[in-house]
Amino acid sequence: MRVLLIGSGGREHALARALARDREVTGLHAAPGNPGIATLAETHDATATDPDSVTALAAKVGADLVVIGPEAPLVAGVGDAVRAAGLACFGPGRAAAMIEGSKSFAKQVMAEARIPTAAARTCATGAEVDAALDAFGPPYVVKADGLAAGKGVVVTRDRQAAAAHAAECGTVVIEEFLDGPEVSVFALADGDTAVALLPAQDYKRARDGDAGPNTGGMGAYAPLLWAPAGLAGEALATVIRPALAELRRRGTPYSGLLYAGLSLTAAGIRVVEFNARFGDPETQVVLDRLDTPLGGLLYAAATGGLAGAGPLSWAPGAAVAVVVAAEGYPDGPARGDEIGGLDEAGRVPGAYVLQAGTSADGPGRLVSSGGRVLNAVGTGPDLAAARAAAYQAAAKISMRGAWYRRDIAGRPAGTPPPEP
Ligand code: AMP
Ligand code: GLY
Repeated sequence: MRVLLIGSGGREHALARALARDREVTGLHAAPGNPGIATLAETHDATATDPDSVTALAAKVGADLVVIGPEAPLVAGVGDAVRAAGLACFGPGRAAAMIEGSKSFAKQVMAEARIPTAAARTCATGAEVDAALDAFGPPYVVKADGLAAGKGVVVTRDRQAAAAHAAECGTVVIEEFLDGPEVSVFALADGDTAVALLPAQDYKRARDGDAGPNTGGMGAYAPLLWAPAGLAGEALATVIRPALAELRRRGTPYSGLLYAGLSLTAAGIRVVEFNARFGDPETQVVLDRLDTPLGGLLYAAATGGLAGAGPLSWAPGAAVAVVVAAEGYPDGPARGDEIGGLDEAGRVPGAYVLQAGTSADGPGRLVSSGGRVLNAVGTGPDLAAARAAAYQAAAKISMRGAWYRRDIAGRPAGTPPPEP
């Protein structure tokens, strides 16, 4: 099977690594890729968000399967174009991807399907915003309706800041604050059948102790030994399958990866958000633990074959990913800083490095080109060993201004420190 992978981040490097391990995958192509992905796949120039560009490349490389990593191409309709050209595509079409592309659409789907989520109102005017802020009270949760690359959500006790974010965004969803640790449950979906992957946890805030601004995610780990044993099954039954049924009922069946961001509140699980793609950096740890060959699974999801896929097999032990970020991330990340130490990091037992925001700047010279630059991934027989390996690898990396959270997998994200 020849696979074309669309995207260029750490998530795509993890996908490429897992696909390259699958013996059924005989050819691996990526666009645009990054220098890390280029060590595993033949990379090509194509505009990821341009349906014609991706479809033409898929035909050129003779792809049997196109795997779309990021949300922007999905919302731009790249999946529809690839399928219209007669190729198998892992990733929903534009209409179904709106479950990520529009917060108000996602809320409508959840209401129709009776999926537990925060009570919410969609507001288009200042008066509606004021009324909603009064109704829900602090902490205020204000979300831009459209795709915002992780910058659309403000959670604050400051009413003026909440109102100001709403005024900046235009149409917003204002909702009830959900109090509980957050987990990410990914499910492969083929329109009908869904298969849950290992739940993982991401650290969204920039600074240690869950302080600082929201980011795209600063680190992740799996498995979640503290979470209820039936979590993935419960998420399938109460969240994933009802969402798939509702999208099918609307005539826009969902195939690809459905990501449920869940808050484990005292009242039960509640959906914080849906995404239409693998999460980053959770994918880096989840795929590390997956023993079932990935190419066949993604092909089954793309072609309606998940019912025959059988149970997934997971490696014992744990994986931890630490995001090494550029100076100034998330507000204004520096770019063009030279990266060193990758070979040393890769020699740490149990560890390896995935590339996210990197570019080649001449032969042998690797520079930063995005806010989240690298992922140091550690694995081991337990979380402590995996964590130690990840941090040893991160410490080997040299880059001006590089920084990372020191508390990834130390304790679950979103839980207070223990009483002294
Ligand atoms: P979203 O893009 O919807 O995932 O929001 C980004 C982050 O904001 C989430 O991961 C949460 O940490 C936080 N957040 C979003 N919605 C809520 C909510 N209703 N209650 C508490 N925190 C939230
Ligand atoms: N890790 C959060 C996300 O991918 O949206």
